[in-house]
Amino acid sequence: MIVFDNICFSYGTRQVLKDISFSIESNERVAILGGSGEGKTTILKLIVGLIKPDSGRIGIDKVDITDKTEDELREVRKKFSIVFQEGALFDSLNVKENVAFCLREYTKMSEEEIEEKVGKLLRKVGVEQAMQLMPDELSGGMHRRVAVARSLAVYEPRMFLYDEPTAGLDPVNAENICNLIVDLSKGGIGHVVVTHKVVDALRVVDRFMFLQNGVMIFDGNSYGLMHSAIPEIQIFISELNFNSKENRQFV
Ligand SMILES: Nc1ncnc2c1ncn2[C@@H]1O[C@H](COP(=O)(O)OP(=O)(O)O)[C@@H](O)[C@H]1O
Ligand SMILES: [Mg+2]
Repeated sequence: MIVFDNICFSYGTRQVLKDISFSIESNERVAILGGSGEGKTTILKLIVGLIKPDSGRIGIDKVDITDKTEDELREVRKKFSIVFQEGALFDSLNVKENVAFCLREYTKMSEEEIEEKVGKLLRKVGVEQAMQLMPDELSGGMHRRVAVARSLAVYEPRMFLYDEPTAGLDPVNAENICNLIVDLSKGGIGHVVVTHKVVDALRVVDRFMFLQNGVMIFDGNSYGLMHSAIPEIQIFISELNFNSKENRQFV
């Protein structure tokens, strides 16, 4: 579904991606790993056409989107449910209004239909009790859940894109978000999770890519990742606590 064909991308004179190629099917569960500033968010932005590559082609569902106009890209974006890292909620709106926002903006749903849909979405992510709360009254984990509900509001996505979904969360909330990500993908809707946290990636995907110095230095399964001889990958993996029961299964 997503094809990157020899993609190069720079911000000004800083080249971030150097000749990146990969393809991801819509039912796959993939992590893009790498350190801060390696270009992970940039890849997500390229997938949905928010930025354009310097060279190379990007295909979504066999359609070349590289030179599409903003209008045409809107159709492409409907295929994805995107939770960006900076996808903060609107501070001045309560949870219900945050989720209802897109419904009001893009659909002709009645008040009752909106109420019902928002309730359903919040139940799906497990925060229906927070309907009337303001964003600053939410825990980090709840905040992230509401952001996921909002991203699901309008369209039935063909694929989920998550940017650092567990960043800044305590371990319990991080696990809850991972469980949510896995649950939402049941039924064959895949996801691409951008993260620097290997432990969370192991919970939610089967395929791992590792971005380093603008190049994809690894693309494989968890066994390949855990046994990689690449020093940078070993450093990421060394953060895992191998003694914990949870992680032993991956070794
Ligand atoms: N709008 C921008 N203008 C200039 N440089 C940027 C911009 N966005 C990101 N960068 C730089 O590009 C590099 C990759 O950014 P990003 O894709 O956000 O990395 P990651 O998500 O892996 O942390 C970083 O060095 C970052 O500072
Ligand atoms: Mg990022």
